Amino acid sequence: MHMLSIDTVLAHFLPQNARCEMGLTARAFAPSNIALIKYWGKRDKALNLPVTSSLSISLGKLGTTTKLTIIDDREDQLFLDKQPVDRESAFAQRLIQFLDLCRPNPAIRYRIETFSDIPVAAGLASSASGFAALVKALDQLHHWDWSDQHLSVLARIGSGSACRSLWDGFVQWEKGERDDGMDSYAKSLNIDWPELRIGLLLFTKQAKPISSREAMNITTQTSKLYHSWPSQVEADLAQMHQALDAQDFALLGETAERNALMMHQTMIDASPSIDYSTPETYAAREKIQQLRKQGVPVYFTQDAGPNLKLLFEEKSLEFVKSTFPHIQVV
Ligand code: PMV
Repeated sequence: MHMLSIDTVLAHFLPQNARCEMGLTARAFAPSNIALIKYWGKRDKALNLPVTSSLSISLGKLGTTTKLTIIDDREDQLFLDKQPVDRESAFAQRLIQFLDLCRPNPAIRYRIETFSDIPVAAGLASSASGFAALVKALDQLHHWDWSDQHLSVLARIGSGSACRSLWDGFVQWEKGERDDGMDSYAKSLNIDWPELRIGLLLFTKQAKPISSREAMNITTQTSKLYHSWPSQVEADLAQMHQALDAQDFALLGETAERNALMMHQTMIDASPSIDYSTPETYAAREKIQQLRKQGVPVYFTQDAGPNLKLLFEEKSLEFVKSTFPHIQVV
């Protein structure tokens, strides 16, 4: 249920003295992130307040760069990888609605040029890095000079998982308790794990048939299995911290894989049932199990799309590559 309007929340912290001269420009990059313990379900839809905390790892150099310029025009201009974006598209509408919340003055218009290293809407967290790069660019453009915590809150309002895309490495998003969501932001966990690798198995670059936002709503409203999700996440988070503290790779992989499978089961249990997996997804999951049977510790996680993200250590790289020659390793 939506308890507070976004305007009321943002009025508390959008500064009055923002710089807005015509032609001002700023550019920012944010990495994509992959959740090892998923965010699935909202306690407030307008503010993107989650039911549970979540934990992710960033994809380093893979992400989104956004350039913002203040322009003299009646409408915003949007470009994705140098191509103009149709203002009526869902992507443009979502961006414009978010910008409407942030404009220091309602008459300000922007040229937004977005360059993405990742396929948009293929379940590879492109909206996460997109909104995170956008809030960083807004902060620089208008000289807001915000803390990472504030930027994380604003990015969360754009897309929940975006609040985790402001840092490299392992990041935890605390669900928070407050109705205004000011305590629901992410933090870097400051953990190094140099041997850890993430492999991207891309089966399709096409946009997903149903957005994560919609799937999340249908699941929370109709899936009986969803009732046990919050307590499952709590247990998985505790176990993931144990794995991170002990640098226990098998424990990390098992926990992440179980958490992702449980999330997909809640969707399959929803009505209508939602299954993002394709025959390629199921075949790859099978191969991962085979690799494990052969003694190669490799696990997967999967978001709102058919593609898989493999988790393994540097020492397993050659085995993984020989099984999945097209894998993109981060
Ligand atoms: O931030 P959204 O609305 O795109 O939701 C992301 C949901 C998952 O990617 C499936 C899980 C997560 O924690 O990133």
